[in-house]
Amino acid sequence: MPFPAAFIDELVARNPIDEVVGQYVQLKRSGSNYFGLCPFHGEKTASFSVAPNKQMYYCFGCHKGGGVINFIMEIEGLSYPDAVRFLAKRANLEVPEDERYESQYRAQERLWKLCKDAAKFYHNLLKSDAGMAARAYLVKRGLDWQTVVKFGMGFAPEDYHALIPAMERKGYSREELIAANLAAVSPKNPQNVYDRFRNRVMFPQIDLRGNIIGFAGRALDKDAKAKYINPTETLIFSKRKFLYAMNLAKKSKRPYIILCEGPMDAIACHQFGFDCAVASQGTALTEEQVNLISKYTDQVIMTYDNDAAGQNATQRAIQMFGRAGVKVKILQLHDAKDADEFLHKFGADPFEVLLQGSENQADYRLMSLEKQFDLSLDEQRVEFTAKAAELISGFASAVEREIYADRAAKAAGISRDAMLLEVEKAFKKRIFREKRQRERQDLAPVAAKLPTDRKLRSEYANTRSAAAEEAVIGMALLEPSLLDQRGDLTGAAFSVAFLGRAFDSLVHLHQEGLRVSLASLQEFSQEESNRLSEIARRYDRVSEERAFTDCVAVILEENGKKGSANSAADLLALSQAMKKNKGYGGT
Ligand code: UTP
Ligand code: MN
Repeated sequence: MPFPAAFIDELVARNPIDEVVGQYVQLKRSGSNYFGLCPFHGEKTASFSVAPNKQMYYCFGCHKGGGVINFIMEIEGLSYPDAVRFLAKRANLEVPEDERYESQYRAQERLWKLCKDAAKFYHNLLKSDAGMAARAYLVKRGLDWQTVVKFGMGFAPEDYHALIPAMERKGYSREELIAANLAAVSPKNPQNVYDRFRNRVMFPQIDLRGNIIGFAGRALDKDAKAKYINPTETLIFSKRKFLYAMNLAKKSKRPYIILCEGPMDAIACHQFGFDCAVASQGTALTEEQVNLISKYTDQVIMTYDNDAAGQNATQRAIQMFGRAGVKVKILQLHDAKDADEFLHKFGADPFEVLLQGSENQADYRLMSLEKQFDLSLDEQRVEFTAKAAELISGFASAVEREIYADRAAKAAGISRDAMLLEVEKAFKKRIFREKRQRERQDLAPVAAKLPTDRKLRSEYANTRSAAAEEAVIGMALLEPSLLDQRGDLTGAAFSVAFLGRAFDSLVHLHQEGLRVSLASLQEFSQEESNRLSEIARRYDRVSEERAFTDCVAVILEENGKKGSANSAADLLALSQAMKKNKGYGGT
């Protein structure tokens, strides 16, 4: 009998794989992973890897892999339920009654709903007459209404009893309001329950799945005791795991993430077109937040405040990112204390140039290219033009591309327009190349890397579908919200049965609001679990939604063919007919 999914989720979370494996294997950190000697086969070089951000282990030598439960099953020789009991004991968890977890999940669902209703309440107030001063404040801070709506911002009035009665009318209890940290109990008089947020601009905290899970509030009143009230731990909000605006930044096309200190900075970035900004909201950066970022990018650009506190926090963060294999660039903002101030003072273009941070580096690269050619010879000038265009097309910002195209044009003695045309061509080629590369990666024929296990391999008869099936699972593991794009796809349409089962389980976890991870999957054989971890290992950067929906389409299409041509004889007939049509078969 399977354990409640919420319990397994908690069990896995409380038994970090690097810690558990570390008790058996000496692990060494390399980038975001750990390596060590595989405990399951004799070896002298470390091919056994542990990925804490995926909660998985995988051995490149013997192809064993899985989550923390599989690891304990293997190494301790335990059955699945006994491995679960073993880990529960290790983490001081009680193996629960089903019911308790059910009721916890229901409580979570109530709080999600409550937070959503509270956000609506605050937002409507911001729009109303009561919100005039708050609106004026936001205008003063340079925010467009569009931005306000995008972030679902609101206004909590100067009133100890505004939200509470409104939510009570909607059927929520005081206990629920307190549990969501929207209301507080007076220490002097426990009867007195009052609104926690008053006279504040409200920032809903939205998780990666789009649920509102808490609020931050910024005081309108300059003399308020606390400028910001940050969200605190609740059943649905975990400070350690949350980054403000990550729900938006994760969709950005930019290859890096901008990490700011406060929500106002992140919001300003988004308004000015830097849609990859997130904020840590004044708390010290945690390992979980670093791991979250490392799932989406290998480059982070930090713009913490210019004060001592901000700079200290930056130093700490650099080390943490370093350990996670994420490159860090620091934005030095001159004449502004934070990103918000900088953007409103100087605008987007100087910020973009700062972000590229490469003005000198780009100069340098262009100059060294120039030196390789004798620009008095026509032929060499043509070659230089092409090479320079190629280089410039790699600069991420249009501003930079223009500036350097200008410079290169002068060096080559051609018109600016001609150079820009070359750059444009090179840029398109590059985009095309990158797109093809991505597709190749996403739909690489599994034929080249079929499962090593014979029985499993025999299931991979339809390699086109199998490739798409693995891709869908690999992508969903990294970015569970992609599962919302699954359309009609269910595991039943999969050609490889266990991949279908895995898919259904992931969908189930996602729908239940649990962590979508392989580590919490139950009822897979060791061979299947090995293969699943190998798939998870292969996908380590989030793909575009399009790649996911393409794969879904492939699976559905292949599944559709099953009915019409499912026997070998049919297939043979079909292929012969096709050859005839093309005119190159025929006897
Ligand atoms: P700052 O005081 O520099 O505020 O604190 P800020 O970000 O510039 O805020 P605005 O622009 O005036 O609105 C930096 C960050 O520290 C946290 C907040 O996350 C803030 O963004 N902070 C600050 C708190 O958590 N509590 C506070 O009382 C003040
Ligand atoms: Mn500020």
